[in-house]
Amino acid sequence: MIIGIPKEILHEEKRVAALPETVAKYVGMGFKVLVESNAGQGIFRSDEQYAAAGAEIIFDARKLYADADIVLKVKQPAPHPGTGQHEAEMLREGSMLITFLHPAAPANHDIVRILRDRRITSLTMDGIPRISRAQTMDALTSMSTLTGYRAMLLAANHFPRFIPMIGTAIGTIQPAQVLVIGAGVVGLQAIATAKRLGAVVKAVDIRADARRDAGSLKGTQVVGFEVPNELAQAEGGYAKALPPEWLEREHALLRSVVPQVDIIILSALIPGEVAPVLITADMVQSMKPGSVIVDVAIDQGGNCAVTVPGSETLVHDVYVCGRVNIPGSMAVDASWLYAHNMLHYVENLFPNGPGTPNLEDDIVRPTLVTIDGRIVHKGALKAMGSSA
Ligand code: NAI
Repeated sequence: MIIGIPKEILHEEKRVAALPETVAKYVGMGFKVLVESNAGQGIFRSDEQYAAAGAEIIFDARKLYADADIVLKVKQPAPHPGTGQHEAEMLREGSMLITFLHPAAPANHDIVRILRDRRITSLTMDGIPRISRAQTMDALTSMSTLTGYRAMLLAANHFPRFIPMIGTAIGTIQPAQVLVIGAGVVGLQAIATAKRLGAVVKAVDIRADARRDAGSLKGTQVVGFEVPNELAQAEGGYAKALPPEWLEREHALLRSVVPQVDIIILSALIPGEVAPVLITADMVQSMKPGSVIVDVAIDQGGNCAVTVPGSETLVHDVYVCGRVNIPGSMAVDASWLYAHNMLHYVENLFPNGPGTPNLEDDIVRPTLVTIDGRIVHKGALKAMGSSA
């Protein structure tokens, strides 16, 4: 069985789905591994290093896609600039694809249909459930950890003031006030990074567990917003969309907190749904000039009403960052984490090495998007409706 590792083609995407170390593990399991030339360029790993790990280096992406039984990628398939073909069309019919597909997102529905029609067994890394057995495979958590850290650094870079308290001969400069909304994986890492930089940090979350985790990061002030558990939390511990009257209460609370803070990191998410709008245009206007908002929930529509996806804008003298693919800007650690998440996932998918995959496994089932000419992913089916 042949595993293929293509070079990622999306703009500014420097990550890669396998490192020489994980290639060696696949070879040890009995797979043959093809790696496209320069696949590791963005993380400073050479073709020679991949070849020394046991990979065959392929110079033509078409050949890699034609020969591979299983393609391991980072991002969803896209039109290939070198071949003029769509990557989803380059996959061999009936082969397997494992990558981040975000199949419920409307922008990816056409890709899902192509994968269905070409009878590809496609598996999405964003479908891995957050359960203990899946921790080593949990690529979303890995990428969110990087994102929380980087989001706070982006904010610091754009903030026209110091973050920590600074004593000078002229007087004392007060520390920056940071508000983190959504204290999940991204939020907790943003809080920890803000504290390391010397900020005064406030956090808001609707789940009691998240508030407890945020409060355990010493010195973080958890803003009191006590939502009844049954309204905030669904089965499995995930957040639920708030009923409209509770969302109103949250808006009222934020209206009083927002004018006091200098930096807001937005990472509130309801899995599988559009992100709730928590910061309205009038709240942005109430902030001090020179304040900063980093809206990392932008892939799900964003938590701020004025964020422009993929852009950085100045709104009422507040810098609003809607940057996407933040993990791509930390490609070395992002690839190290992702490639190991992928290795653990493939080991679980093929428990007996090359051969028949175990598609009935509890971790694998929710990741399955298309198989045998059908779309089977619940979120994708719900989002696509009758067009599925
Ligand atoms: P998570 O599920 O661990 O955390 C989200 C948190 O938001 C949960 O604790 C939840 O209780 C909270 N929440 C939900 N509704 C809320 C509300 N109304 N008010 C306050 N808190 C609320 O998710 P994670 O992994 O931290 O990701 C957060 C966001 O960051 C997602 O939208 C994700 O797609 C995005 N992200 C963006 C990246 C980028 O490059 N821009 C990369 C990685 C993640």
